[in-house]
Amino acid sequence: MSVVNEVVIAPSLLASDFAHLSKAASECAEGGAEYLHFDVMDGRFVPEITFGSQAVSSLRRISPAFFDVHLMIVEPEKQIKHFADAGANGVTVHYEACTHLHRTLQHIRDLGMNAGVAINPHTPVSALEFVMELTDLILVMTVNPGYGGQSFIPGMLPKIREAKIMAARAQHPIHVEVDGGISPHTAAAVTQAGATALVAGTAIFGDGRSVVDAISDLRTAASR
Ligand code: DX5
Ligand code: ZN
Repeated sequence: MSVVNEVVIAPSLLASDFAHLSKAASECAEGGAEYLHFDVMDGRFVPEITFGSQAVSSLRRISPAFFDVHLMIVEPEKQIKHFADAGANGVTVHYEACTHLHRTLQHIRDLGMNAGVAINPHTPVSALEFVMELTDLILVMTVNPGYGGQSFIPGMLPKIREAKIMAARAQHPIHVEVDGGISPHTAAAVTQAGATALVAGTAIFGDGRSVVDAISDLRTAASR
């Protein structure tokens, strides 16, 4: 058994001003955020298109954070090498987008990165049972993927608990990450349920306060 206890904050650049991505990344580092979360969208798995590995590569030059790449794309296996070359530290693929999930997770690890699997709100945690040995992070989506600024789905709390139990059973450390509607209002509930990586876009970039203060407020709320 191996339990991850520390909570990491993963600001999602999706909610930042794309004209100033490097400023956003620097402010996150200044605020002590351990992770930087990249929402890669392809216009197919989800309706919008965001950015690809080139954005990751450019920001790699100025940020020391753990680069946490969330691929909301079909056929993610075709892109994984590009993100490894760009300097990603972890790549998360969607269970719903992977025909050969086991092989894809192995591929991510073979390239020296942490392997993550995201599950949409309708997908049960049990779907991941037979890939746990290849998984470093379970991403429980707490909204339907595709857009920032949506409301947290409270019905996901039991899934977070279940994911934590499955993660704790493994022989290696596995983070339980949550993504969607995470703010100082929802942070305590998700960490109490077992989440150890908190993705937040709107709560960090969208409320007009400084990024440093927003990260600090989220961390305080998460430790309650
Ligand atoms: C949604 C993305 C999220 C998004 C979260 O599909 O995966 O990472 O940025 O946005 P907020 O924190 O605004 O709900
Ligand atoms: Zn995300």
